[in-house]
Amino acid sequence: MRRREALIAAGAAGLGLLAPVSDAGSGEVKKSFGEIAASRRSVRHYTDEPIRRERLEHILTTALLAPTSWGEKVVEFVVVEDREMLRRLAACKRIGAPSVAAATAAVVVLVNRDASKLWIEDGSVAATYVLLGAEEEGIGACWNQIRDRQGQAASAADEIRGLLHIPESYGVLCIIALGQKGEHKQPKKPGEMPLKNIHWGKF
Ligand SMILES: Cc1cc2nc3c(=O)[nH]c(=O)nc-3n(C[C@H](O)[C@H](O)[C@H](O)COP(=O)(O)O)c2cc1C
Repeated sequence: MRRREALIAAGAAGLGLLAPVSDAGSGEVKKSFGEIAASRRSVRHYTDEPIRRERLEHILTTALLAPTSWGEKVVEFVVVEDREMLRRLAACKRIGAPSVAAATAAVVVLVNRDASKLWIEDGSVAATYVLLGAEEEGIGACWNQIRDRQGQAASAADEIRGLLHIPESYGVLCIIALGQKGEHKQPKKPGEMPLKNIHWGKF
């Protein structure tokens, strides 16, 4: 078992996992938070190139730092890299989840509803961290809504629980599809931001 995996397995994720993963000698300069927020777009097309395990570990470890209600550790992730399982997960949503079928990896975002009264919020914050962490690593990502979505015969969440052996008490919020970007969208432009939506002092 490699050191990083051993750290995770031991529940002792070291600070090293929080450092962004660089390609040696690439001269790559990491973006500021503002640049990550602006360049993050929903990417639904990916190349076949696999995502380095270190990048996935970094994205998920960072997402574990997301705030939760009462600070409880209620959010869990199932990382799926198996192609056939990705296709089966995508089919759990009646209207389809093409980005999950096309992805090289996906993160199923779960929340222990027995331990969280605000499970939707807790899961949403963590899922947002996954989206932003992916962008930090140059990985394309797209949120696929699962909560309150229909499956083929039951709810999408129940069908995913069955496929991945997830206990009934865990809410299945969404699946974040991940992959090396196969489409390149324009970053958001500061001039197009709805600045009128910010109210200072009163509405
Ligand atoms: C709560 C939520 C649910 C979403 N559900 C889906 C989805 O089921 N399928 C999908 O392709 N994109 C989904 N998206 C992605 C949005 O369509 C996307 O974020 C939005 O169109 C803005 O585009 P951008 O992400 O490129 O800024 C979802 C995003 C959020 C925040």
